[in-house]
Amino acid sequence: MNDARVALITGSSSGIGAAVARRMAEAGMCVVINSATSVEAGEKLAAELPRAIYVQGDVSDPADARRVVEATVEEFGRLDVLVNNAGLTRFIPLDDTEAVDESVWREIFDVNVIGTWHMMKAAQPHLKATGSGSIVNISSVSGSRAMGSSIPYAVSKAAVDHLTRLCGATFGPEVRVNAVAPGLVDTPWYDEAPEVWEGSRDWITANTPLCRVGSPEDVAEAVFGLAHAAYTTGSVLMVDGGRHLV
Ligand SMILES: NC(=O)c1ccc[n+]([C@@H]2O[C@H](COP(=O)([O-])OP(=O)(O)OC[C@H]3O[C@@H](n4cnc5c(N)ncnc54)[C@H](OP(=O)(O)O)[C@@H]3O)[C@@H](O)[C@H]2O)c1
Repeated sequence: MNDARVALITGSSSGIGAAVARRMAEAGMCVVINSATSVEAGEKLAAELPRAIYVQGDVSDPADARRVVEATVEEFGRLDVLVNNAGLTRFIPLDDTEAVDESVWREIFDVNVIGTWHMMKAAQPHLKATGSGSIVNISSVSGSRAMGSSIPYAVSKAAVDHLTRLCGATFGPEVRVNAVAPGLVDTPWYDEAPEVWEGSRDWITANTPLCRVGSPEDVAEAVFGLAHAAYTTGSVLMVDGGRHLV
């Protein structure tokens, strides 16, 4: 078995996932980069890191989820840390009921909730085999507060929080399951809604305890810490500059 620990980060061609991949690599871990569509960006990041591969796969497809996990174990011989970061949203004001149809619910839940489950299920036996496996799910402050880019998105992150608690209660003692819930983070996520980004950034800067938006590195540091916090399971850690307090 490979001696170095191995981290698989879904949705890591960009933003928070890419920062988590860099943080794990800095700590000497072997890293698996994944995305569904941005293959070139994923391959480029993998080439920059010392021991990394890129594996394309859509987490909402159970066969893809299994294939990504299998490719990880085939390449590096083990899996120690799974970070479920792949996610998507639609920017729909919370009071625009008409704009939210069934397809929006299904699209968001397929990736954010069911995709997270597919990955957890496929990875569980390999994480268990290490005796100290760890899963960190990327949730959102909108999973526990009445805010967010759309109602289906916020509800999907509430589901991720509870999935984290339920699996924290059942995957131990060999596997710990935790989540990080970011606030507003500066990533390409907001490229399609620059007005949402600008309004939210100004509000956060003026009204929250730490007076700034988050960086992908802020979130990556919390993910790294939680991934290695040996006596923590079933926890959801807010990484939002205190946004949830106001
Ligand atoms: N930015 C924020 O303010 C913020 C706040 C709270 C929570 N979050 C959460 O943080 C996570 C990452 O967001 P980000 O801001 O870093 O966004 P981002 O830069 O847009 O990155 C999203 C990543 O997910 C991948 N992805 C999307 N659908 C996928 C699928 N079905 N299978 C595999 N990969 C998929 C994307 O790649 P492709 O689309 O190319 O496949 C990309 O690599 C998400 O779960 C999001 O909900 C973000």
